[in-house]
Amino acid sequence: MTDEELVYRAKGARARAYAPYSNFVVGVALLADGEVFDAANVENASYGLSMCAERNAVMRAILEGAHHLQVVAVCSSTSPPAAPCGMCLQTLREFTKDPGSLRILLCNEKGEQAEHTLATLLPHGFKPEDLPRRA
Ligand code: THU
Repeated sequence: MTDEELVYRAKGARARAYAPYSNFVVGVALLADGEVFDAANVENASYGLSMCAERNAVMRAILEGAHHLQVVAVCSSTSPPAAPCGMCLQTLREFTKDPGSLRILLCNEKGEQAEHTLATLLPHGFKPEDLPRRA
């Protein structure tokens, strides 16, 4: 799976977004355990219940048993391409042993692209190991 293919999948996933309130349509393609899990944002009339595309993709991967997150492509309509929100970065952190090795590709419909890692977008994130050990 090349970066180009993953970005293409993220763009395509936007078609399945349900975003009638914000009209901000986000598509994601997450490569995990060598498989692609794509997703989009799904909103709710009770606005706070809206779910981001990135978290929908992570939940799909985890529920399918894919725990090794490799690359995340995120496609929206903003220029420059928007990064995942803090809640989504924290969700990615939960399932990432080495944040420097999780690549995050940002893109938009215009073809603009940027690349980060989870370590650069969430440099001092809270992690499972920060919790005290249970007996
Ligand atoms: N959204 C995402 O899907 N991902 C993000 O990282 C930021 C925001 C969605 C949530 C909501 O449906 C819309 O974009 C506007 O916030």
